[in-house]
Amino acid sequence: MTETPDWAAVLRDVREGMIPAHLYNDAETHRREAKEVFGRSWVFVAHESEIPRPGDYVVRRVLEDSFIVVRDEGGAVRVLFNMCLHRGMQVCRAEIGNASHFRCPYHGWSYRNDGRLVGLPFHRDAYGGEAGYARQRQTLLPAPAVDTCNGLIFVNLDPNAVPLLDFLGDFAFYLDYYTRQSGSGVELRGPQRWRIKANWKIGAENFAGDMYHTPYTHASIVEIGLFREPRAERRKDGTTYWAGSGGGTTYKLPPGDLRSRLNYVGYPDEMIDRMMTTWSPRQQAVIGDDGFMISAATVFPNLSFVHNWPRVAESEHVLPFISLRQWQPVGPDETEVLSWFCVDREAPQRFKELSYKAYLMCFGSTGMFEQDDVENWVSLTSTAAGSMARRLRLNSRMGLWPDGTTIVPPLGPDQWHGPGTSYVGYGEHNQRALLRLWADCMERSVPAAGPPVGPAADRDPVASA
Ligand code: FES
Ligand SMILES: [Fe+2]
Repeated sequence: MTETPDWAAVLRDVREGMIPAHLYNDAETHRREAKEVFGRSWVFVAHESEIPRPGDYVVRRVLEDSFIVVRDEGGAVRVLFNMCLHRGMQVCRAEIGNASHFRCPYHGWSYRNDGRLVGLPFHRDAYGGEAGYARQRQTLLPAPAVDTCNGLIFVNLDPNAVPLLDFLGDFAFYLDYYTRQSGSGVELRGPQRWRIKANWKIGAENFAGDMYHTPYTHASIVEIGLFREPRAERRKDGTTYWAGSGGGTTYKLPPGDLRSRLNYVGYPDEMIDRMMTTWSPRQQAVIGDDGFMISAATVFPNLSFVHNWPRVAESEHVLPFISLRQWQPVGPDETEVLSWFCVDREAPQRFKELSYKAYLMCFGSTGMFEQDDVENWVSLTSTAAGSMARRLRLNSRMGLWPDGTTIVPPLGPDQWHGPGTSYVGYGEHNQRALLRLWADCMERSVPAAGPPVGPAADRDPVASA
């Protein structure tokens, strides 16, 4: 049984860090998210390296909207709505391929890979030829807005959206650690795709800032000695940072300089040389001076990153890997996970192979971390559907005193050279920041939230809505 919640109260609670539990499995919330979050945000669809040659394409979705992301014959990247202009069939049914044209399977209309309609069977007899129905200027619907950053292709269903870089804001600074380790950028492999019976927000929040779960959820990985570093119990020495539309976590590194610290997590010297000429002095300072190594992160709404450095063989040697992942909502209780391996294009072949192995061991459909995480998320989601969840507000106030001030102060500019705000230790600053962006979107179609509730000491888990 679902009843319409008091949305003003829901959004007020979310902004307070008291999260109404039903938001993790609620049909009305899902419907509103489709319109207010995914209908207006920049959503990642593909990386340019997935479609390097003219005609290369992948088919990706933003919820139900299917898009062909294709490089046309002139080399331009197009994002075309995958719905035939005739009777609406999906024009491209394959997930990946290379084609100069797409021919609709239903009645055979065909389109060039820039979207232009070029072929109609029996054009003259059925439509009176060009005089009856001019093919010129007929084209598959382009995505309302397309923009890229470091080769990452995003779409926005709102044609009036702010430019991607404005949306990302200072998170673009951190994006470079994952997707620009050299002037050539990265290449992506995959994605692996699978579905989990969990709400999409849980993964997004977890990757944004949940260092707190590592020692418990992933205890077995530590116990079998998979990680020399990062050791789970050392997570509290790292930071969480938030900047613009995204935020993430870091590990504290042992004393050293930029090179020795990048060596420490397994990067070979030749890759470090390129990082040192590609990253700005400020970007280098976060690692070299401040001593933190970027780990997991999320950009609102549903694109996450991970950077980790496990042992991949019977040696003390660790190998870093990067993965991009997307939490694609299927319904209030189901998410399609897309997981890509990501590596610097100029990395040595041997590094690429071992890094891929490290990725597969930890993440992707066979990854050990993935299995641990999802067990929690599925369980949480199923309980969130019940009537008791509507009476519960989950406590997401870690790192705050009852009056809303922070338990530890943010790092000063001499301790953290990156933009945004960064805190050492456990806290849910990032999960709250992510859900505040969510609340800002959702508020567009609900009444404005009322004044904040009283002192946080009074906040109990019983939902007021
Ligand atoms: S629906 Fe595509 S040709 Fe008819
Ligand atoms: Fe995890």
